[in-house]
Amino acid sequence: MKKTLGRVASFYDKRKVGETGALGFRRSSDLNILLDCVEVLLQEGLIIPGESRFLDLGCADGRVNVFFSYLVRLSVGIELDEWTAEEYEYLKGFLENELEVQGLPKLPTNISIFHGDSTGAEVYRSISKETGVEFEDFDLFYTYLVMHEEFAELIKARGRKGSVFLVYGVDRILPRYEGLRLLPVSPLKGILAAYRKE
Ligand SMILES: C[S@@+](CC[C@H](N)C(=O)[O-])C[C@H]1O[C@@H](n2cnc3c(N)ncnc32)[C@H](O)[C@@H]1O
Repeated sequence: MKKTLGRVASFYDKRKVGETGALGFRRSSDLNILLDCVEVLLQEGLIIPGESRFLDLGCADGRVNVFFSYLVRLSVGIELDEWTAEEYEYLKGFLENELEVQGLPKLPTNISIFHGDSTGAEVYRSISKETGVEFEDFDLFYTYLVMHEEFAELIKARGRKGSVFLVYGVDRILPRYEGLRLLPVSPLKGILAAYRKE
């Protein structure tokens, strides 16, 4: 599993977006850093293998979804820009080919990427229709800093008690959100903050 996750991480990390130039708003998480966080996330019970239902709020090309799909029961992503969400299928094709050549396990089939606004109601109707899962059923939320305050509000209002919110891209001063408790493991690897809905 670690070998496969390492290969997935390196595949996407070679194709990062927005480090420089005009696409800064859609910067990519470093999946090798996330790989270094996995052990603690598992030890702390923030990911329950094969059980957790994961939602990336602002998933871009779905790379974090692909990464988490190996660890969770369901991996859902929502992306505002249609052309960005479309990159998911395109990159997935190359990744599948690379995994096959390396003799590594195939990509799990538990990933669903949706085009829509994570703060609106419509996309959640589509998610419910396609996966049978409501917002309240997700246990593990993720975002890359961009809209973290709005998404924290959403989780506070509608998330299930005990659900976890991971915020990637933090620095030394960690954001605080009403109704969400900052967990002492934060920041994992200096960049990932974890919160639990009270
Ligand atoms: C910085 S990127 C992060 C992508 C991916 N989660 C990662 O960590 O590699 C943030 C993405 O969120 C999207 N986004 C911003 N607001 C959104 C919203 N309200 N609903 C869905 N996607 C949104 C942007 O279009 C952008 O692609």
